[in-house]
Amino acid sequence: MRKPKQLVPFIMLDDKNHGSPLYRQIYEAIRRAILSGEFSVRMRLPASRVLAQQLGVSRITVVNAYEQLFAEGYLEGKIGDGTFVAAQLPDDLLHIEKRKITAANKSENHLPLRLSPFGERLQSNVKSIRTQTSAIFQPFQNGLTAVDKFPFEIWSRIAARLNRNLPREILGYGEPQGYLPLREAVAAHLTSARGVSCTPAQVIITSGAQQALDLTARIILSEKDSVWIEDPCYQEAKSVFAATGAKVVSVPVDEEGFNLSATPKRGAEKAKLIYVTPSHQYPLGVTMSLPRRLALIEWAKRNDAWIIEDDYNSEFRYAGRPLASLQGLDRDGRVIYMGTFSKTIFPSLRIGCLVVPSDLVDIFTVARALNDVHSSLIEQAILTEFIAEGHFARHIRRMRTLYEERQKILIEECEKHLGDLLEVKKADAGMHLVGWLPEGVSGVNINRRAAKQNLKLAPISSYSSANELPRDGLILGYTAFDKRQIRNAVRKLKAILVEEISK
Ligand SMILES: Cc1ncc(COP(=O)(O)O)c(C=O)c1O
Repeated sequence: MRKPKQLVPFIMLDDKNHGSPLYRQIYEAIRRAILSGEFSVRMRLPASRVLAQQLGVSRITVVNAYEQLFAEGYLEGKIGDGTFVAAQLPDDLLHIEKRKITAANKSENHLPLRLSPFGERLQSNVKSIRTQTSAIFQPFQNGLTAVDKFPFEIWSRIAARLNRNLPREILGYGEPQGYLPLREAVAAHLTSARGVSCTPAQVIITSGAQQALDLTARIILSEKDSVWIEDPCYQEAKSVFAATGAKVVSVPVDEEGFNLSATPKRGAEKAKLIYVTPSHQYPLGVTMSLPRRLALIEWAKRNDAWIIEDDYNSEFRYAGRPLASLQGLDRDGRVIYMGTFSKTIFPSLRIGCLVVPSDLVDIFTVARALNDVHSSLIEQAILTEFIAEGHFARHIRRMRTLYEERQKILIEECEKHLGDLLEVKKADAGMHLVGWLPEGVSGVNINRRAAKQNLKLAPISSYSSANELPRDGLILGYTAFDKRQIRNAVRKLKAILVEEISK
């Protein structure tokens, strides 16, 4: 007589959860059913073959899930000889159920989480701290590179050559400070291109400028300190400083950049750390004048303060010679310089650098070691070769021409189609333009409408802590978009502006 077909209606694979391997989904479903009491103690589970058939997966997938559950003590018996829910599940496991596990695996109980002051600050700002994602390149999104023009064939050739014969020293743990040949290449590049005064011993390779900011903030700041930032300011920097508990003081930027005369003169608000983007203020794009640079360094010296120079975007200058770095003017070891390959290669590479005064090298190195040991040595080695063979310098030259062209297209399209709706002026540097809106028009509203049209704009007001700006503006990134995309995007923007202004 044929055995009745065993049915297991209770296990459902999560169609939406493509990211999780199938065996893991089966494991989770059974575990949840056991913890919720849906699968009772000593209950027999279907044979792996039967469950596999029912779920339309391979038997090995179910076996893997069962094995994990055996290993963790949820099941007992033997695969192939009857599989049962364990008779004695530890009590504390069963109690997990009482707190109910939601689909997102978040506890629904509302007991306060026991966190450090840092954790608590993050918890209360989870919604407001931006996490950057740019999986889809949407027109006007800022900070993205022209990846369609990146020499991937050269990059892959270098990677293939290295992979064929990987030196042992890049397969174990490397120096937390960074791969020495890359530090040498970076020091040479920064010295000649940016007038940075450094040796490779002062260079620390980081996982992008963001890690450089995070390390610096945690090394320098405490809850008692104040940090001065530019207003408007790169919000990812502001969030890092706020997370340390330090007081974040916004200082207005004018056409000469960070304005010392607008800073608090004394008391608890006097800065221990000052964050500036002198070569291309983010987001306004102004360059800090030489007198302001010298005054800032002098102030830091007199007040025993540190300066972070975020030189995120100094390579793309279309007119005149760039001013050398602030760090190059500093004779007293006050400036912590940071750079990134996010704008010259692409952001997902996650390689940036710090140049720190000699006295800080050891502290930054151990902080880096404690944090994530070091960035991938293989990526560091590929980048080193890419620089050493001259491809980096060539790529920057080509991108400078391309980005200048793309900026020109954007300006022409704006002038042709937007007229008085948006004031856009040529910029001598950078990867974005600021389009100034007519007085009283909210960049936030425009942004909301634009998001529905798959445009990624950022209002200047969202970078500022001022209650009211005389005029709001929109950040228009152009480097990652070709002529056709820029044209279409400007047309869409026109419709949005007309709608918002005439409402
Ligand atoms: C002002 C500023 N600093 C730094 C960065 C780069 O950060 P990362 O190297 O972490 O990609 C950006 C990128 O948008 C930026 O705008």
